Amino acid sequence: MWTIDLPKLPFQSSKSHEEEEECKLLEEGTTIGPSWALPQWIKVFLLASVLLNLISFGFILVLGFTRNRDPTQILYSPAREAVYYEVKKFHRGFGLDKTIYQGDPSPEVDAEWEALYDSVGIIRLDKSQAERLPNKTYPYVGEDDGYYIGELAVFHQLHCLNAIRISLSQDYYRTVLDSSHFDPAEGSYGRDHISHCLDALREAIMCASDISVITWKWNHKAQRALGHGDIVHTCRNFESIHDWSTKNHP
Ligand SMILES: *[C@@H]1O[C@H](CO)[C@@H](O)[C@H](O)[C@H]1NC(C)=O
Repeated sequence: MWTIDLPKLPFQSSKSHEEEEECKLLEEGTTIGPSWALPQWIKVFLLASVLLNLISFGFILVLGFTRNRDPTQILYSPAREAVYYEVKKFHRGFGLDKTIYQGDPSPEVDAEWEALYDSVGIIRLDKSQAERLPNKTYPYVGEDDGYYIGELAVFHQLHCLNAIRISLSQDYYRTVLDSSHFDPAEGSYGRDHISHCLDALREAIMCASDISVITWKWNHKAQRALGHGDIVHTCRNFESIHDWSTKNHP
């Protein structure tokens, strides 16, 4: 039968002789630890709580080691080991809060843009990585025999954004680039490629669907509240993914 062993209270008079002996032994016994004198249900409770704490501690360790890794990536990517999340404040992109990428066309600004994706984008995958891709890819031939070619989408998207930027400043870029680049059907900065890039970025933006909330502030000059883009966002750390791609660049 299941009994709950309640502590014996001093006013309880219904004790048998043996029970009184037992009480005395427990009171006098200095070698018996106090926890072993606890009722059964408290022991079970303590054991359960110790186990729960160990399990929680294990989870915290695992989370700590994996930083803010992505639990939502449904499809395999070899770069998922490089993904972790961080909070990032965006720039207003106006007045004093502009970035280098907004600069007027120049070799320096071009170099900053190209550094985002150039000689990083194309990667070399081994057979086991290539086999796990949701879409099949093509093998390298020659020196990199046995390896497969790939590119992380973020670097294609950055390349596309740069192509749009260049196509918007044709007055400058036509003076530094061959006119074939601006051929409507064939050129990197021509109509067809720019149309492809615009739509690739539309899909990328909708795919990522950033749900950070843009806020409104009262603007004295305009005498109305205006939206502000310089808010904090949940972001994937770009440098980590850039480093991963650099390491896997052939
Ligand atoms: C990638 O896989 C999807 C789904 O199976 C398929 O529809 C698509 O055509 C594939 N793309 C390429 C480039 O193979």
